[in-house]
Amino acid sequence: MSRLIVISNRVSVPKAAGAAGAQGGLAVALNSALRENRGIWFGWSGQETEEFTGHLDMQRNDGVTTATIDLEPQDIEEYYNGYANRTLWPLFHYRIDLTEYDRNFGEGYERVNRRFADSLRPLIDQDDLVWVHDYHLLPLGSMLRTQGVKNRIGLFLHTPWPPTRLLVSLPFHERLVESMLAYDVIGFQTEEWLGSFLHYLEKEMGLEIGADGCVEYQGRRIIAQAFPIGIDFAEFTEGASSDEAREAHDKLKASVRGRKILIGVDRLDYSKGLGERFESFSRFLADNPDQSSQSVLLQIAPPSRGDVESYQQIREDLERKTGHINGAHADVAFVPIRYVNRGYPRRQLAGFYRAADVGLVTPLRDGMNLVAKEYVAAQDEADPGVLILSQFAGAALQLDDALLVNPHSLEDVSEAIKRALVMPLEERRSRHSKLLASVRDADVDFWREQFVKVLFGAPCMEAQDLSAQDASN
Ligand code: G6P
Repeated sequence: MSRLIVISNRVSVPKAAGAAGAQGGLAVALNSALRENRGIWFGWSGQETEEFTGHLDMQRNDGVTTATIDLEPQDIEEYYNGYANRTLWPLFHYRIDLTEYDRNFGEGYERVNRRFADSLRPLIDQDDLVWVHDYHLLPLGSMLRTQGVKNRIGLFLHTPWPPTRLLVSLPFHERLVESMLAYDVIGFQTEEWLGSFLHYLEKEMGLEIGADGCVEYQGRRIIAQAFPIGIDFAEFTEGASSDEAREAHDKLKASVRGRKILIGVDRLDYSKGLGERFESFSRFLADNPDQSSQSVLLQIAPPSRGDVESYQQIREDLERKTGHINGAHADVAFVPIRYVNRGYPRRQLAGFYRAADVGLVTPLRDGMNLVAKEYVAAQDEADPGVLILSQFAGAALQLDDALLVNPHSLEDVSEAIKRALVMPLEERRSRHSKLLASVRDADVDFWREQFVKVLFGAPCMEAQDLSAQDASN
């Protein structure tokens, strides 16, 4: 079996993540793949060093080897806070109004990708499969090729891919996309993002997509496909039936004294549509005075990327909005929005999800959204809650038995909240059982197996080898 080398900006070291269940689902799933394949997980340690040395910190924990490097302050500023999170993240989430274009960011991004390639190169053996993750590392494959790496290298993008008309607002967009054509396989979350990428290749680069899905560029053949990511269903449902989950469930239920609970759990990010969500809930309270003190919105929003101004801004906006809405609708014994700026262990989250009558997942744009899937997985099948899901989340393509909404429309979301709160048990069950089947069957193991199978099989590469043989006959 080939070894798997996974590369991502952040690395989750199993032991450092604490007791089982404290890591994210993706980390758990990749760790199990790495354990099976004797693999390595490579990336940034999250630490700062005065001057970059390229020193690799290798650790072996719980059967997984991690290799991390520290970055210097200028790298972090230009690569992580800069190009990754001030340029690509907003652009890929269709927010060109928030996108900053600064040459230093682009240079820092390429420099750090080169540093990743330099440090990683000696770790790669001949038969290893190399799997790069996300928008921080788009040019890494081409930098490894420059260093002579001939292995199969795949990329999976966890975010959306923007429409061509938005992407062309990025200076040097051709350079970025061309660098991606050094991969053998490029994976997207949905057919929609895949379609936008292929559209760019056709319209901006004049490339042809073959009937087999392969694209030829400068003598190489690559394939781009959609691989929708799932949650680690077995691990999550096991956690959901733990004592920790039960305690969290009971504590939340007791605290609302018979009121209905709506829950949102998101990294504090402008793409998540939190402001619109709060306003929609406020609209619901205003339009339904009979129910106005009968439901509570619990929004868990751990702060994120706090050195980036747009994140400081959204944090302030939400604080103002929460204060305003609570001020307008609260009374002495009731506050409608509980806004909590911290994260919780996954088992406790599972308990909160199960206690909630409604899962409110209304991003303005999202590559996939695993909270929607976790909410479904955590429900009591006999008496499940209702998922309200943005039509602009990648997950909406699979979870179309949720109440799909336009998160920009306060009326639409407010009406969906009303509908969810009065939905008869039979309809809740029938919707939930279909959602559950989808979340259970397309889990994270399925996603990983599908991607690795295509990377290993490298369908376009084989056709290329065959045609090279034909030519020599
Ligand atoms: C998104 C990205 C991930 C990233 C995560 C947390 O899900 O796709 O690559 O790790 O957000 O963001 P952070 O900047 O804290 O790593």
